[in-house]
Parts: sequence; structure tokens; C-alpha cells
Amino acid sequence: MDDLAIPAGKAIAELKTVLGDRLATSVSVRDHHSHDTSRLKPHLPDAVAFPRTEEEVQAIISACAAHGVPVVPFGAGSSMEGHTIPVRGGITLDTREMNKVLEIRPEDLLAVVQPGVTRKQLNVELRETGLMFSVDPGADASLGGMASTRGSGTTAVRYGTMRENVLALRVVTPDGTAIRTGSRARKSSTGYDLTHLFVGAEGTLGVITELAVRLHPIPEAVSSAICAFPTVAEAVEAVIEAVQYGIPVARVEFLDEVAIAGVNSYSKLDLPVAPTLFFEFHGTPAWVEEQARLAEDITRSHGAIGFRWTTDADERAKLWQARHDLFWATKAIIPGYDLYTGDICVPISRLAESIVAARADIDASSLKGQIIGHVGDGNFHTAYLIDPNNPEHLREAEELADRLVERALVVGGTASGEHGIGMAKLKFMRREHGKAVDVMKRIKTALDPLGIMNPGKMGDAG
Ligand code: LAC
Ligand code: ZN
Repeated sequence: MDDLAIPAGKAIAELKTVLGDRLATSVSVRDHHSHDTSRLKPHLPDAVAFPRTEEEVQAIISACAAHGVPVVPFGAGSSMEGHTIPVRGGITLDTREMNKVLEIRPEDLLAVVQPGVTRKQLNVELRETGLMFSVDPGADASLGGMASTRGSGTTAVRYGTMRENVLALRVVTPDGTAIRTGSRARKSSTGYDLTHLFVGAEGTLGVITELAVRLHPIPEAVSSAICAFPTVAEAVEAVIEAVQYGIPVARVEFLDEVAIAGVNSYSKLDLPVAPTLFFEFHGTPAWVEEQARLAEDITRSHGAIGFRWTTDADERAKLWQARHDLFWATKAIIPGYDLYTGDICVPISRLAESIVAARADIDASSLKGQIIGHVGDGNFHTAYLIDPNNPEHLREAEELADRLVERALVVGGTASGEHGIGMAKLKFMRREHGKAVDVMKRIKTALDPLGIMNPGKMGDAG
């Protein structure tokens, strides 16, 4: 499609000479890049580029800048709020072929990778080192995508989100310049913190072409525990006490009874259908046992039933696989239905009331819905099941999700703890950030005066 009649035609014609077959214009490839995992309306890019080097990324951005064509960075496509939907067409820049682990420096506890490396791939390549990359959003996301969305997941409570785990970047800015941000040192007091400007920018300020990420020693011992509670409030209060007590949990996940029923059926488990906590503890054998006992005491004092812990690797793997498959388990509850997801984060002291209110809202609605959470961080997700052909369902889900955010903001929380802004949360930017949005807009205009980087997203907040 070097069709000069479409706006992107000239850029596509130029880039074909640079990328050859790695500039795809077939409908099937464009279709694959027209959507993410959200329910949001797909939109086709005009072409999809698969660069292998930073120089090729520069060539793509320069051609797009010359012709005013949008560029939408794309990792594994597992984003949840429409981040990668090319709403204004243009060229989607898929980083999957930038998939090399460039350097592993065990003595510095860091690895340098290209952006298309996925978290599972990196952990496989780290096998011999006794080290791990900790951030685990569930999906086998790309590290470039995870950095761009400031991803987190189940282990953030112990090891931090991408904010804490990205040390340095290489980025191609919207005028085609390649820059380095940060250094290999653990800390620095020089300059504006550009690394953390690009981490979480959702591809609106440039394209990440290289990342230096932190690694952590694989713990000597790992144990998991699971327990059920009579009520949602008791489960969450137990977590709050465990966190405030300072038990260094590696993961603590909440699943309400709807989620447990979904997991039982999808992952062939037989868990009691009640609000439940999954814990994981890391440390020496004696220390994980001690942590489990402390957690047991605390959870029992909040009414926990049947606290069960294990160090058996297979049992643990089964439990966490079931947790990671939860998104698909929820989708399977009513075949043909879509998920409308909510995602907020609140100060831990306000978590119990937030989850109880969210559950009460779902119960008062006509929709089926569930709540799960990375509760050690005060972060939880709702999922409302909606019939895609029923506009009333969409309206009701929107209302529930909006109310969830309103309440989070009132208690000093945020409109998204993990899933980001994409398109779906744009409307909350001003509410949450006030005049700071104007500063963000000035940054966007300074870096991307033509507005070509992932337009219609965070850079265009109103
Ligand atoms: C999870 C993803 C959906 O927590 O954030 O499973
Ligand atoms: Zn999550």
C-alpha cells in the first residue's frame, strides 16, 4: 500500500526501501495491531513496521515526522485500556524483532535488553545466574511495553513496579534523535529524571529502544499460603494488618468469591467459594516459615478459615498459574460477554472501605462482576461482565467504573494503579492531576510538537 492517496502513503513508500518485508500492509497484520485486550473499538493502522535496530526506529520516526504521520509503539499487545489502538491510523511500530538480551551483569544486578524482550524470555536467559527479573503483570508482556505503561502486578509489593526496576533507557524522541537517560549506577543526583519521564509515558513522548533493568537474587526458599474469610472486609483488614506489621510479603492477592468460582471452573481447582487471600513469602527456609506463621496469626485473628501453606513447587505453580489465568477465567464465566475492567489504587488504610463499597455497587447493579486485587499495594481491579450487544450493560458498567474512580480520588488514591490511562481513563486525568495536566501538556508539546507519538492518548488529555 504505497498508496500516495492515503496520508501515510509517502512515509510507507519511503520506509519500504529501508525495511522491505518488515513493513507490513496486509490486512491480517494490520488487524492484529488494531486492538488490545480491552473492549474498546479497534482501528487499523495503515502499516506495521518491525524494526530490528535503533537506527531503523530512527528512520521510521523521521519518515513519520517528515510527513506528519502517527507512530504507535506496540509491544506484546497485552495492554488493557486501549494504549496501542492506532485511533488516527499511521504506522504501528512493533518491537517484537528487537528481542535481544544485550548484556547480563550479575555482579551489578542488572540486565540490558531490547524493548521486545518479554519478561519470561529474560527470566529464561537468567537461568544460570541465580537472579530474576521480578515484575510480573501476569501476561508475558514485553519489557518496553511494561516500562511504557509503568507496569506492575503481583510482586510489586515486595520488589516494586517498573518505576523502581528501570535504571536507564535509550529512547528515540519524536524528532528522530536517539538519547540515553540514566546510567548503570544504582542512584544519581544529576539532571532531570528523564528515565522516569518515559517510564509510564505510554509511548506518547518517544520509543524506548533499550532498557537497563534491575535484577534480584532468586530467594533460597519460597512458600505460598492460601486462606478464606467469611467476608470481604475481614480478608482486606487482615492484609492491611500484615502490611502495617511489616511482614515482607512477596505477593498477596485478594480474590472475591465470584473470582474463586471462576478460577475453580477454569483452572480445575476446588477452593472454598469465599473471599480468599493468596500469599507468597521469600527468604531463607526458616524466614519463610516464620513469615507464614505471622501471617497465619494475623489472618486467623480476622476470621480466616483453613490457612494452608506449602513449599511444594508444583502446588505453588498451580495456584499462581490459576491466578495469572484469572482474566481468561473471568471472560469464560459468561461465554460471548466482554469484560469491562476497573483498576484503582488507594492508600492502604482506605482499602477495606473501597473494596466493600465496590462490591456493594456491583451487588446493587444488574451486572455480574468480580473484584481481585494486588492488595498489599492498595491496588484492586473490578471486572464487570457485559453483553457487547446491550448498550444498557455498557452504560451501567461505565457508571460503576466511574464511581470506583471517584471514590478513589476522594480518599487520596489514583484512577489507575496498574492498567494505565490508554484511552479509557483519559477523562480522569484532569480530575486527578489538576493543573499538573497543563505541565504535562507543555512537556508533550516541547518533545512532540507535531503530535505524532501515539496521538489521542495521554498526551492529549483535556
Ligand atoms: C491482573 C491483571 C489483569 O491483575 O492486571 O490479573
Ligand atoms: Zn493486576
